[in-house]
Amino acid sequence: EQPQAVKDTLAAYVKEGKIDFSEGGLDWKELKEVTRFYFVACGSAYHVSLVAKNVIEDLTEIPVECDVASEFRYRNPKLQEGGMVVVISQSGETADSIAALRLAKEKGLPVLSIVNVLGSTIARESDHVLYTCAGPEISVATTKAYSCQLAAGYIFSLLLAKAKGKISKEETRSLTEELFLLPGKIQQCLSFDQEILPMAKELKDADNIFFLGRGLDWAISMEGALKLKEISYIHCESYSSGELKHGTISLIEKGSPVIGLLSQEELAGKSISNIHEVRSRGAKCFAIRMEDITIEEEDFAHNLIVP
Ligand code: BG6
Repeated sequence: EQPQAVKDTLAAYVKEGKIDFSEGGLDWKELKEVTRFYFVACGSAYHVSLVAKNVIEDLTEIPVECDVASEFRYRNPKLQEGGMVVVISQSGETADSIAALRLAKEKGLPVLSIVNVLGSTIARESDHVLYTCAGPEISVATTKAYSCQLAAGYIFSLLLAKAKGKISKEETRSLTEELFLLPGKIQQCLSFDQEILPMAKELKDADNIFFLGRGLDWAISMEGALKLKEISYIHCESYSSGELKHGTISLIEKGSPVIGLLSQEELAGKSISNIHEVRSRGAKCFAIRMEDITIEEEDFAHNLIVP
């Protein structure tokens, strides 16, 4: 269902090629005045916020803070006037996220929520709502809702960049068009069973699996690690490629499986040098990478190319 769910989510906010959030009560003039964003969420939704932070800061230069909702509510956060709180939640009913939303409102900040369930508590109590169109998310391990939250996050970032005058009409149009290629690319990924199966067979008896990534790849790998442990019961953690050496690398021994995410050309060289570090300790490495990122085949037991 993921291709359709993502397509529906994009189509809900892009009308005749133009981004339009008016249904969510979000006026771009209000958005234009926001000086800082505070993203608050739990689990997979929190991982989405880390992607949104990367994209918003990159496109708009507006600072974004991300908090796990259960921490936010207990750390007495300092929220600046002019800021906006963004709560991301599939169900719209997660207790810590609701508490974070109420705290934000108490402190006088407007709240925008990205929610999947219509009329849920978070949707009702927010000033603005962007609904994702994932349909019912039956699985505990959210998949299509996560993808839809990412799509909504990207669209939101583009509108923001446009409102702030950071990207031109043409750039907005071309990036929006690019987003509409995603459902087809997701469909392609869903047909990779033959490539994934041998990799899964090699990983199925592992006690520990490590994900490594930088920037966006790190944010995405956190979700990979969460999904993997949640549904396979194999212990799995994600580390920022550059941070691994500060302690955790001592866990890497002969045969330790390490999955490296390589999707950003400008960071790939650095990430690959971290792969070499773990390889020199005997790790068995797997790559999930974009086609145009060059690797030395012998560094990886398997490498999966995504569109
Ligand atoms: C957890 C789920 O309990 O709640 C995660 O296992 C989910 O998959 C998290 O991301 C947050 O839920 P929600 O509904 O607020 O997005």
